[in-house]
Amino acid sequence: MLDLFADAEPWQEPLAPGATILRRFALSRAAALFDAMASVAAISPFRHMVTPGGHTMSVAMTNCGTLGWATDARGYVYAETDPVTDKLWPPIPPLFAALCHDAAVEAGYPDFQPDACLINRYAVGAKLSLHQDKDEPDLRAPIVSVSLGLPAIFQFGGLRRNDPLQRLMLEHGDVVVWGRESRLFYHGIQPLKPGVHPLTGEFRYNLTFRQAGMANKNKNYS
Ligand code: SIN
Ligand code: FE2
Repeated sequence: MLDLFADAEPWQEPLAPGATILRRFALSRAAALFDAMASVAAISPFRHMVTPGGHTMSVAMTNCGTLGWATDARGYVYAETDPVTDKLWPPIPPLFAALCHDAAVEAGYPDFQPDACLINRYAVGAKLSLHQDKDEPDLRAPIVSVSLGLPAIFQFGGLRRNDPLQRLMLEHGDVVVWGRESRLFYHGIQPLKPGVHPLTGEFRYNLTFRQAGMANKNKNYS
């Protein structure tokens, strides 16, 4: 089928104060990002973590960076070592860092310096229930979230769990950035629909870059 948008330039869709979607921003680098992700997963494999409530997450996860996000029966933590390998998480690949930087600049966060990248893998039916990201020291620093592979519906609400939700389809190469006023807005991913993507097969992947350490705390994100 003729793809009328194959050569289209990325475009931006404002989402909320401090938040924007950079449509197809990562598309031209997607294949290289996917390869780099596979190299990370060869060192620290995808695993299904267990929440403090004892629930096994449907999303499989791994990390790269000086800090990696993990959950177990004791709670949510950022740690320097992977509990599965007992080694440091692999470093953030230069290609990841470059994409994240370019996206952050485009979204109005030129000073963002992530030290943690969580990698999520969604198989059919996998979802992420509505939640806030609040395990980081600076809750105005942005989150840069890159979607690869199968599309999924992203829910984006407000500061309260019951606030009305926007529902947006995130597609291959889309990047969502949220910080400042909307940094603590509730969000989630609806159960993945079955499909096959030319690059990622039956999966959707998501990279989320965060500033999880204290090094850059108090940088001015006003
Ligand atoms: C997240 O909320 O951390 C990830 C969202 C996504 O998979 O797009
Ligand atoms: Fe999140």
